Amino acid sequence: MADTNSDRSTAATSLQATWGDKKFIEDWATKTSWQAPIRDAQVAMVLRMIPHPIEAPIRVLDIGAGYGALASGVLHDRPNATAVCLDASAAMLQLGADKNAGLKDRIRFVQGSLETPDWLKSVDGTFDAVISTRALHHFTENQRRRYIFKEVYDLVRAGGCFINGDNVRAATKSLTERYRSARDGYLDRMIRQASGGKTNLAEAKAASPSTYHGPHNNGHLEEELGWLREAGFQDVDCFWKFTNMVVYGGFKP
Ligand SMILES: C[S@@+](CC[C@H](N)C(=O)[O-])C[C@H]1O[C@@H](n2cnc3c(N)ncnc32)[C@H](O)[C@@H]1O
Repeated sequence: MADTNSDRSTAATSLQATWGDKKFIEDWATKTSWQAPIRDAQVAMVLRMIPHPIEAPIRVLDIGAGYGALASGVLHDRPNATAVCLDASAAMLQLGADKNAGLKDRIRFVQGSLETPDWLKSVDGTFDAVISTRALHHFTENQRRRYIFKEVYDLVRAGGCFINGDNVRAATKSLTERYRSARDGYLDRMIRQASGGKTNLAEAKAASPSTYHGPHNNGHLEEELGWLREAGFQDVDCFWKFTNMVVYGGFKP
């Protein structure tokens, strides 16, 4: 895979200015509250697609985990599960350790960048479920995500899964606009209902700090699913979809 030093150093610079920055992370966490109606459904679907019995002592890896929101969701759902959370940002990992102190040694935060296969050195052993939300769309450059799927496949135990809640690229520009309109219309309605008509989506967006964090390199859904099959996963599908928001994944026989 072609991957230049300059690609990597640009990524590192942008990480430092965004996910590496405590203030940026706090702003992002505030902003995303109005996205909750969609994010919560997405997270619920990731949790429900993990195939093991709810009491099983499964080991989970959350990649691009941020402060571990998804992994902690799994641990609250599954009393005997443990999780490793991998992220490139030291500030995110510290926040994760602080926020999840109550989970004690059931959750562990490790630093590693998914930009290269070196991240594999940060995790030990294999996992029943590798999961992720809202992180992997950053990695299409040089088809990096295609290779991440292969790296993940080797970490998944037989009978396990990889499930990703993310966003994908619409097939056409006009479909992008249709999706944006449908999504905003839905969120607007949810915000008006929750606030008893006191506020709306436009106001919620205007009140939120800007959280631009570099280009979204999301891919087309069919290509993502193809890459998962190519990596060896079976029963690959998009399990949930709302506009361009998706939950997709596959299982290891
Ligand atoms: C939108 S946040 C999502 C966090 C979390 N998965 C969630 O759903 O709350 C994207 C995350 O990707 C992480 N990230 C960005 N570049 C990364 C890289 N090269 N390797 C690993 N994580 C990275 C950021 O630090 C950030 O925590």
